[in-house]
Amino acid sequence: MKIKVLGAAAGGGSPQWNCRCPNCISLRNGAPGIEPRTQSSVAVSSDGDDWYLLNVSPDIRQQIQDCSELTPPGNEPRGTGIAGCVLTDAEIDHTTGLLLLRENANFRIYSTPLVRRWLNDYFPIEPIVSAFVPREWEELSLGEPTALVSGKGKASTLRVTAFDLDTHPPLFAKAHTGSAEGSVVGLIVEDTATGGKMVYAPGVEAITPALRQAVEGAQLFFMDGTLWSNEEMITLGLSQRTGLDMGHIAVSGNDGSLQWLAGLDIPERIYLHINNTNPILDTRSDEFRAVRETGVRVATDGDAFDI
Ligand code: MLT
Ligand code: MN
Ligand code: ZN
Repeated sequence: MKIKVLGAAAGGGSPQWNCRCPNCISLRNGAPGIEPRTQSSVAVSSDGDDWYLLNVSPDIRQQIQDCSELTPPGNEPRGTGIAGCVLTDAEIDHTTGLLLLRENANFRIYSTPLVRRWLNDYFPIEPIVSAFVPREWEELSLGEPTALVSGKGKASTLRVTAFDLDTHPPLFAKAHTGSAEGSVVGLIVEDTATGGKMVYAPGVEAITPALRQAVEGAQLFFMDGTLWSNEEMITLGLSQRTGLDMGHIAVSGNDGSLQWLAGLDIPERIYLHINNTNPILDTRSDEFRAVRETGVRVATDGDAFDI
């Protein structure tokens, strides 16, 4: 299975348009040791031709420009390397790119029923895009593998299994009542031809038994690296909300994710969905060094893996 990081940043990207945190200032000044990052998305492929996007960010246009595998292949006048899009939640940073892919090209969209409903009720991407081009929408059932099939009906050897991670609705869907099942999921992606297994979890509120079980036997694990500390946004005077208020466990501390990742027997453990305020983005920081000392990586746009 081939894997490419299209965007390693959390919502807003890095630098973020309205932000003067230390990282965003360094990026605008071209300081050494820190790279710009686009918003959260990963692409996976079993054959190197058909690519499935895990989330579709508002930066998808630039991400396609920067990833030749996604540009139109072959000799047809129109085409795309994108064979399908799988959503982990209904957040703006993970879904808005679907609006930018409204022109004619075949691919399917996969999400939980709740994510599809939230989008239809509050951010109607599906009816808007469907006015331009028919888009088949496949529903992911929790705990059940779904085979990924291209828009042209070509089966891949990849299958994806969603597991529940978090009950946070997007802020724009706060009015929702009823079951929160399928609000924010992680994805197990397996290649049935090779036995490759990766887990993608950009929104992790807590290290639950379901998450621990999902990563067992994985060769690669993308973990939510939004914030270094739970109070980070408040300390910087940027927000009133903690990481946990937003559904993101911190990297540092006794209850943080790094301590857990450090003990995991998974060859590639990688933080992504990293907020622009997080000091691990700056390779000169103590926090970056602390992550690297445990063997965990900090994702950058364009990182590629083959498992
Ligand atoms: C999140 O990851 O919590 C959301 O993407 C936040 C946002 O987009 O505002
Ligand atoms: Mn996000
Ligand atoms: Zn910033």
